[in-house]
Amino acid sequence: MNIYQENVMDHYKNPRNFGKMKKPDVVSKDANMLCGDEIEIQVKIKNGKIDDIRFSGPGCAISRASGSMLSELVKGKKISDIKKIKDDDLIGMMGIELTPIRRKCALLSLRVLKNGLEKA
Ligand code: FES
Repeated sequence: MNIYQENVMDHYKNPRNFGKMKKPDVVSKDANMLCGDEIEIQVKIKNGKIDDIRFSGPGCAISRASGSMLSELVKGKKISDIKKIKDDDLIGMMGIELTPIRRKCALLSLRVLKNGLEKA
């Protein structure tokens, strides 16, 4: 396993910010059309920034690892900056080869988060 694969495995086995929070400001949920797995993301917002974030839902290793990595990436960041995160930024952070189907798994959390922030 290379260092990227090890990092992804670690996020899968010990997902950061996994679970639910009390009184989130934003709740967003969606499914990966290909497999039906759902991710829910909850966010607390303070002064235009993500103060806290949780994600939950059943999902494969890739979707869980990417949700975990995304949650660390966006915590404390301005919402306006988060809206600029591109698909390839998250994929690049994961650093592993992904088939088109696996890419959908990896990008589910980002899509759910961005959809939620549109309503914020
Ligand atoms: Fe369902 Fe990856 S197989 S999110």
